[in-house]
Amino acid sequence: MSEIKMNVSEFDNIAREVFAPVYPVIAEQIKQKTGISVGKCLDIGCGGGYLGIALARATELYVYLADRSTEMLEIAGGNISAAGLTARMQTLFADVQKIPLPDQSIDLIVSRGSIFFWEDRQKAFEEIYRVLAPGGVAYIGGGFGTAELKKRIAARMEKENKNWRAMMNKNIGENAPEAYVKILQNTKIPFFEVNRDEAGLWIVIRGSKDEM
Ligand SMILES: C[S@@+](CC[C@H](N)C(=O)[O-])C[C@H]1O[C@@H](n2cnc3c(N)ncnc32)[C@H](O)[C@@H]1O
Repeated sequence: MSEIKMNVSEFDNIAREVFAPVYPVIAEQIKQKTGISVGKCLDIGCGGGYLGIALARATELYVYLADRSTEMLEIAGGNISAAGLTARMQTLFADVQKIPLPDQSIDLIVSRGSIFFWEDRQKAFEEIYRVLAPGGVAYIGGGFGTAELKKRIAARMEKENKNWRAMMNKNIGENAPEAYVKILQNTKIPFFEVNRDEAGLWIVIRGSKDEM
């Protein structure tokens, strides 16, 4: 997939001003769906870190905010401090295609809105699976929490970007799951699901049941 050029401060302003309400909603959904609220969490492609911060607030998890953009990580680091969460969070310079963490070391891996930029998704899924602890869960995709929030955000975003709806359709629309299923079937990952509804598209990967 070709890299979509993104202005870091522009994206962060949108995340703060327009997307802000979605992060706590998605964090609560992840907590409910995965049942994981202790241990280590990795938010990969974290941007300003708003999902990881919402998860740290909602749980007792230790959260790594990881991104391959140093500019994004600077913003994320500032947000960790501003949230008073430096004892339970840190930033990590990382590309999802080569995650600098040991095998089976992370209980919960989350990623919102980043997968659409990944060049080699198969490699990324394999890396995510490698670092997932036995019994761990990965929750990867894109979305807005609820259909109502998506509608509200779409109305705002479409005013600024006439291609926004087409981009959303391509990324999380009705036809999007098929491609992810195909890629996942090419891996040796035994347990995965691709769930899509009006609010978003989320891939759930379960860690192996056993120690390596
Ligand atoms: C649209 S932003 C989403 C940020 C954040 N997750 C959110 O929901 O607000 C996409 C982020 O993914 C990061 N990213 C893209 N490709 C990546 C890769 N291969 N590895 C790690 N991060 C990546 C970008 O640097 C950017 O911060």
